[in-house]
Amino acid sequence: MQILAIVGAQWGDEGKGKITDLLGEKCDFVVRYQGGNNAGHTIIVGDKKIILHLIPSGILHPNTVSLIGHGVVFDPVAFKAELNEIEGLGVKVSPKNLKISENCTVITSYNKILDGQRESSSKTKIGTTGRGIGPAYEDKIGRRAIKVKDLLNKEVLEQKLRENLVEKESLFKNLYHCDYPSVEEEVERLYSLGQEIKPLMANTFGLLDTAIANNKKILFEGAQGVLLDIDYGSYPFVTSSNTSSGGIYNGAGLPGGRLNDVLGITKAYCTRVGAGPFPTELHDELGEHIQKKGGEFGATTGRVRRCGWLDIPLLKYSAKCANITSFALTKLDVLSDIETLKVCISYEYEGKTLDMAYPGLDLSKVKPVYKDLKPFHDDFIDNKVSPELKEFLDLIESETGIKIGILAYGPERSEIIFRQDFF
Ligand code: IMP
Repeated sequence: MQILAIVGAQWGDEGKGKITDLLGEKCDFVVRYQGGNNAGHTIIVGDKKIILHLIPSGILHPNTVSLIGHGVVFDPVAFKAELNEIEGLGVKVSPKNLKISENCTVITSYNKILDGQRESSSKTKIGTTGRGIGPAYEDKIGRRAIKVKDLLNKEVLEQKLRENLVEKESLFKNLYHCDYPSVEEEVERLYSLGQEIKPLMANTFGLLDTAIANNKKILFEGAQGVLLDIDYGSYPFVTSSNTSSGGIYNGAGLPGGRLNDVLGITKAYCTRVGAGPFPTELHDELGEHIQKKGGEFGATTGRVRRCGWLDIPLLKYSAKCANITSFALTKLDVLSDIETLKVCISYEYEGKTLDMAYPGLDLSKVKPVYKDLKPFHDDFIDNKVSPELKEFLDLIESETGIKIGILAYGPERSEIIFRQDFF
């Protein structure tokens, strides 16, 4: 295989980091195409825990080139901090192995302030990560964004920031009554970061074009999950980018190529961080048990993740939205040894049975229908799967019509069973 996409098939935090890391090792390029430092990809290497937010997971492999495509919203301040952190852990970063599209939208201080003020004052709280993601994408769609290449030109930067602040200043002063940096301060901060980042800036689209023409192995690394997609997700409780595989075409480019496989990562249960409907959410001790055993705290914000049963109508839907060709099922160890095991196989909604969600379906109004399964008690020694676990896997495969190519049962790189070859 030459080109693989990895997408989250749920609300993010499915364990994409570990799988991207393992498969990224075999690739020439690992490419981010959407989102920003709202992501948190946790990778455990020996006794080191590395959390990547903005930098693609390929950075941990010396022979892999990591690209940040133009669909990513790029916070230079957060980037610098992350770079320092991973370099401190011994990761080597240079213009040879990390390239940032000149055309990424920059997240400014104004975007971050707006995100925070809206979250604290609005009635409908989305529970954002507070990283300025939504306001930065608004600037992009509103055709007033600062682009990474603008960081190199003080005059352009100042003129764009000044224009950009006209409306925002009115919000900061009159609506939110909050402090904000002057244009001069912001220009100085961004310009000096631009000088540091300059060697990493590149035409990433051109690099992908050449790479595909030369049959290079490419992995597109999705952040968040399909259910947080701005178009397919549980709107308005979503992020502001196209997290599904469709985002690849707009946010990085696939010139002359095609996706050979789309690997959808799903936990063996569901989690959600932030607000929004969650049909199979567990509000009891079992939910708490899964949360504790699974270490379900956000890698970016540290918030507790809500936990619930696996939801087939949503999984099927994600698979269709992102054109998923196989699944990686993660965190099986967390469900091992629990006393009851349920899977939601359909919804009751307005007097009908629904076996799959659809865009705009009000998930707060559906009633999950569960199938009880025999609990499994697997220790995964010698990669063996018990008959009870096999029944769980078979149910997922038969309900979704998609093969499970990978089973993951712990955070270590070795805690994984490959049932399919990738690359
Ligand atoms: P934003 O992306 O910061 O605007 O947040 C919008 C919604 O997406 C909130 O519910 C966040 O909790 C959620 N979100 C954003 N990034 C992630 C992620 O990497 N994992 C899980 N949820 C996320």
